[in-house]
Amino acid sequence: MRSIGRAPIFIERGEGPYIWDVDGNRYVDWVSSWGPLILGHADPLVVEAVRAAAGRGTSYGAPTAGEVELATEVSARFASVEMIRMTSSGTEATMSALRLARAATGRTTILKFAGAYHGHVDGLLAEGGSGLATAGVPASPGVTEAQASDTVIVPWNDRDAVTQAIARGRPAAVIAEPIPANMGVVPPDPGFLESLRDATAEAGSLLILDEVITGFRISRGGAQELLGVEADLTVMGKVIGGGLPAAAYGGSRELMERIAPAGEVYQAGTLSGNPLAVAAGLATLRKLDGPAYVGIESVTTRLATGLRRAAGDLPVQVSSVPGLLTVFFSPDPVRDFAGAQACDTAAYGRFCRAMLDRGVYPPASQFEAWFPSLAHDEEAIERTIAAAAEAFGEAIG
Ligand SMILES: Cc1ncc(COP(=O)(O)O)c(C=O)c1O
Repeated sequence: MRSIGRAPIFIERGEGPYIWDVDGNRYVDWVSSWGPLILGHADPLVVEAVRAAAGRGTSYGAPTAGEVELATEVSARFASVEMIRMTSSGTEATMSALRLARAATGRTTILKFAGAYHGHVDGLLAEGGSGLATAGVPASPGVTEAQASDTVIVPWNDRDAVTQAIARGRPAAVIAEPIPANMGVVPPDPGFLESLRDATAEAGSLLILDEVITGFRISRGGAQELLGVEADLTVMGKVIGGGLPAAAYGGSRELMERIAPAGEVYQAGTLSGNPLAVAAGLATLRKLDGPAYVGIESVTTRLATGLRRAAGDLPVQVSSVPGLLTVFFSPDPVRDFAGAQACDTAAYGRFCRAMLDRGVYPPASQFEAWFPSLAHDEEAIERTIAAAAEAFGEAIG
């Protein structure tokens, strides 16, 4: 909120597509807790599942049947995932996936994309998207030189630069958001992910696809299903916990069995696979069937089309894939982090403030995605488009 020149808004409660602040104002919420709430706020089935789980005890530090059911659901959706390990946050999951990749390859370097965000893992903060991009900081103090020097940054969608960097550096892994959403939504150019897959296979490097945002959201099997590229390791978060703290990483049995106690790569967590989070995640995933994904795509398309119409001839780009969207104040489509940074973020700030004044809550940074949910009904979408028609004029006019 500071980046758009506003005081923070404190939330009192949420229901369906709406949140209410402590002053009693209602907003159409397009942040959806930054992605987990694909069913909207306080979905009755999720609330009931959590209530029932809490009544049986909140944590055991021992396996439960729910974890196995969740793992089964995940591997049914992701062809590349035979086994998963649960964590409590996406940050932990990416950090652990990197450790596994280094152990499996015996190599050190990790290649990451400018503008991507993979959680606050020390070695992955350089040229990060999301909050780092919003604050305009290229990296974070507190990261040692050694950690930073193990990371190579490459530009998104630059096929030649990336394939050369992989062939030359032979990294332990390349980590990518398959559809980056933390510099705003910037889909891969046709063939780009395939080139990553080929180049990593050739160099003996692992391809880690961070589907913390895209997984279970843009299609049943995430970006890998939608775009037809398979990862060696997949990182999942957000929707998998249905609004409670859960995340996971997974891959082939051969790779995953290197993790302790089956293997020697150590990783653990007191609350990993927590029964409340697992119950919320399972209740959420069970509602996400074929028709649900048609619904998510339809909400996104109606919103994107309406926003484009509201922007008219103004220099605005609405970048969208099913379940994700970003409004860029730019005359041209955005293809990489440099393009996202070149947008008129001051105009975005004015747009955002004007939307909030009209009871609509978009992400307060252009370096983020809007997160449509199944709770966003016609009224919520129409209110948003009507507000945007005025807010675009206020932002640019
Ligand atoms: C793509 C991606 N990976 C990893 C993370 C980190 O997840 P968490 O915030 O649960 O640590 C995020 C968080 O926004 C993310 O967007």
